[in-house]
Formats: sequence, C-alpha cells, structure tokens
Amino acid sequence: MFLGDSLGLLDTVNVTNEAVEALKEKQRGGRWYPTEISMAQDRQDMVNAPKHIVDIMSMAISWQHTTDSIAGRSIGAMFLPYVTNPEAEVMISEWSTIEFVHGEAYSHIVKQTRLNPDEAIQETYNNIRVLNRSKKIIEVFNSLYNMDRSLPFREKQKIVAKVLCTVMAMECISFMSSFAVTFAIAEQGWFQGIAETVSLISRDELYHTRMSYELIKAQKEVDGWQDVYDEISDEVSEIVSSIARSEMEWNRYLLSEGRYLDNLSLDMLDKTNKYFNNAVFTMLGLKNPLEVVTENPCKFMEKYIDRSLLQFASQEIQHGSYRQGSIVDDVTEDLDLEFII
Ligand SMILES: [Fe+2]
Ligand SMILES: [Fe+2]
Repeated sequence: MFLGDSLGLLDTVNVTNEAVEALKEKQRGGRWYPTEISMAQDRQDMVNAPKHIVDIMSMAISWQHTTDSIAGRSIGAMFLPYVTNPEAEVMISEWSTIEFVHGEAYSHIVKQTRLNPDEAIQETYNNIRVLNRSKKIIEVFNSLYNMDRSLPFREKQKIVAKVLCTVMAMECISFMSSFAVTFAIAEQGWFQGIAETVSLISRDELYHTRMSYELIKAQKEVDGWQDVYDEISDEVSEIVSSIARSEMEWNRYLLSEGRYLDNLSLDMLDKTNKYFNNAVFTMLGLKNPLEVVTENPCKFMEKYIDRSLLQFASQEIQHGSYRQGSIVDDVTEDLDLEFII
C-alpha cells in the first residue's frame, strides 16, 4: 500500500485489493453538490431559533468546517507521495476530492445562512478552542507532511501507520460526535437543510473510516507491517484516546454558558463519543483504555445516516476477527460495502 515499489501504470487489470477498489467506486458514485441543498429555511432559523440552539449549531459548523478544511488539504498531500498501490492511489484521490466538497459545503452553509458570512468565518479563526480540539490531529498529520525522506525505512513506516490510525480516529470519533449535535438540533425541527448536508457528509466520513481500516488491514496482513503496528501500539492508543478525550472536553464547553439541548445531555454526548472511540480501538485491534460503550445512545442518528453504515461500527465491535493477532478469514464479508454481516 505505502512505501513499496514505484507505481508504474495505473493498472486496473491486476487489482490486488478488491475492498479498496470497491470503496473507490462507491465514493466516486456518491458524488454530490453542496449547492443543490436549499438553505432558505435555515437562514430563517438562524433568526428565529432560540439563541442557545443557534449558538450550538454555529459552534458545531465552525468546528466541522475547520476540520474538513484540514482533511481536504491533508489526505491527498500526505498520502499520495508514498502510496504504491494503484487502486489505493485513486481511492485516496477520490477521498481527498470529497473532503474539498465537504469544506465547500460548510462554506455554502455559512454563506447562505449567516447575515454576515465574513464575520462567521472570522469567528472560526478567532475561536482558539476550535483549533485546540484538532491540535493532536494536526500534530500527527504534520509528522508525515514534513517527513524527512532520508529517515530509516522503519521510521517512515511507523509515521505512515500512525497517521492512518489518527485519520481513522478523526473520521470516526471527532466527526461523529459533532454530527450527533447537529442531528439532535435537527430532531427539534430546526436547520433541516444543514442536517441534510451533514447527513451526506457523515455517510462519506463513514466510508473514510472504512477506507483507513482497509489500508491498515492490507498493511498488516499483506504487506507484513504487523510488527510495525505492534511497535507503535502504545503511542497509537495514546493518540486515539487523547482525540476522544479532547472531544469530551469540547462537549463540556459546548454544553455550558447557558447552552443546552433538551434531547442531548452531556452524558449522552460523552457516551456517543465513547461508542465511536470503542469502534476505532476494536478496528485497530487495541485494548480500549476508556469506558467501553458498545451501543450508540443517540438512536436518532440512524435517521440521518444510512443505517447500514452506522451498523458497521457496532458490528466491528462485536466481530471477533478484528482482535489483535487473530487471522481474518471473512473475505466475502469484508467486500460487503453495506457493512452488514
Ligand atoms: Fe470530510
Ligand atoms: Fe473524511
């Protein structure tokens, strides 16, 4: 997948990883355009919804906008110089392209719903808490982006592996917690256009979780990188749990200073975060150091995310073959992109 022989032809005759190839096709077939979704009612909601709801929605969008801007600029730039499998190369390009669509979608939301979009963008820049929340992710991404090419091969492998695990945590833990907030507000009848947009984005982010999973799996099982992953397991465990912890810190800030949601308590939001955190630890084959939550308390999320995609997280949790060091013999299941077992 990475740091192998040079790519040569873009060869779709000799596909070596069917799961990656299928995910690439799935992502390409799922292209969508942010401007197709009307924000007319959402613009009214910005004026008419209670202040605490508007504030929470603005903060959620602000963070998602920041992180998707980072994702758009990073995924392709970080991985493409080192990828050495053609179907993975194209899958990563599709992944990177859709992250730009996400960034534009948030910009579209701000442009269409805020009376003063410039001010909203400035607010995001000024809100240091938004960037602090993404600090760990940016730090790990930079290690690959600025990787010294003269480093020993083993060190390069460790950096690529660490970044893939961090990407999975970003896609599955950080984004999903934030989407729970957006969908909880939509459940109250406000901001349906934003919810429709975020619903499409959340589908893509679950594809991306799966993409990271398939890349890691191929590295471990085909490329012989299992020992690299074993070596960095403590560090990865620390990175992933620190991402989950910073989400919970954010939850405390989000639901404070008079901001609250009738249908989403702090405890529920933390548990949602822990649910997705547990899914990531299980997919990585690592022991989860945080509280183990195996059911998403935010059932309403199922309305906004393709149910089968959301199910995949809980199925990964229960699926014995993802435990560390075990042999995976479920090739057909892994090809099932609906993620249903
Ligand atoms: Fe995204
Ligand atoms: Fe993503």
